[in-house]
Amino acid sequence: MSIFQELSNRDRVFEFLAPAASPVDVRHGPILYLEDVSVSFDGFKAINNLNLTIDDGELRCIIGPNGAGKTTMMDIITGKTRPDTGSVWFGSRHNLLTMNEPDIATLGIGRKFQKPTVFEALTVFENLELAMAADKRVLQTLTARLSGEHRDRIDEVLKLIGLSQLRNREAGILSHGQKQWLEIGMLLMQKPRLLLVDEPVAGMTEQEMERTAELLTSLAGEQSVVVVEHDMGFVRSIAKKVTVLHQGSVLAEGTMDQVSNDRKVIEVYLGEGA
Ligand SMILES: Nc1ncnc2c1ncn2[C@@H]1O[C@H](COP(=O)(O)OP(=O)(O)OP(=O)(O)O)[C@@H](O)[C@H]1O
Ligand SMILES: [Mg+2]
Repeated sequence: MSIFQELSNRDRVFEFLAPAASPVDVRHGPILYLEDVSVSFDGFKAINNLNLTIDDGELRCIIGPNGAGKTTMMDIITGKTRPDTGSVWFGSRHNLLTMNEPDIATLGIGRKFQKPTVFEALTVFENLELAMAADKRVLQTLTARLSGEHRDRIDEVLKLIGLSQLRNREAGILSHGQKQWLEIGMLLMQKPRLLLVDEPVAGMTEQEMERTAELLTSLAGEQSVVVVEHDMGFVRSIAKKVTVLHQGSVLAEGTMDQVSNDRKVIEVYLGEGA
């Protein structure tokens, strides 16, 4: 094996410098598992005995009225909020409740917040480059061969997010939708196993929404994707399995048709005036 091949096998060669997170083990079950999770804020139960299971490679949509606990659920998975009770596992090996936010991210859980946070003065390409550099596992001063690999990964992600033509333009000139895709691309640079996306299409045009539907659908399989969204047309266009949250618990789960015909779900949405 040549020295270049050795060096490019970074997980093995640099393990002693920056131990890579041990891979998520999904052989015996789901990629994400929440059991009886509860959290209260000043006595108010924002999450109330929540049980949720996401399979490896699944695209799951989470819907529910304002205040149902959707964002709080993501806060718990990513380590931003600690639940009062319950368990949260990533594969069968990683107890997320024993880990902090950066370690959970390094393990392969990427989160997209609603507001895009791209670096406007940098080009699209540079934004992706920077996202890769943020990965502790990648050492920057390596061989030309390895930076070639980095470039290949950036090209691959540019294609996925549909921004290849704009690679050398400043991110500041992008439309709102394009910025959202760039931010998803920045998450993808770290090759996450699970992507959490909170309200991705808010403020997007119809066309941008369609493109986002294609993007998220294409990511599932390689990644598991959990999408929280209020836009029902959008959810219907991508949905396989849908979970309805209400008052911090699962109210219903199933196909879009099943949940939208569920009496409890209809009551909750009618009660909201929707
Ligand atoms: N850090 C916090 N401190 C106090 N209350 C909080 C905190 N985070 C969330 N809450 C409350 O918990 C409840 C659930 O909020 P959450 O943001 O998870 O809902 P959501 O389903 O994401 O709603 P939306 O669809 O409006 O985004 C709300 O009543 C909210 O006010
Ligand atoms: Mg929310």
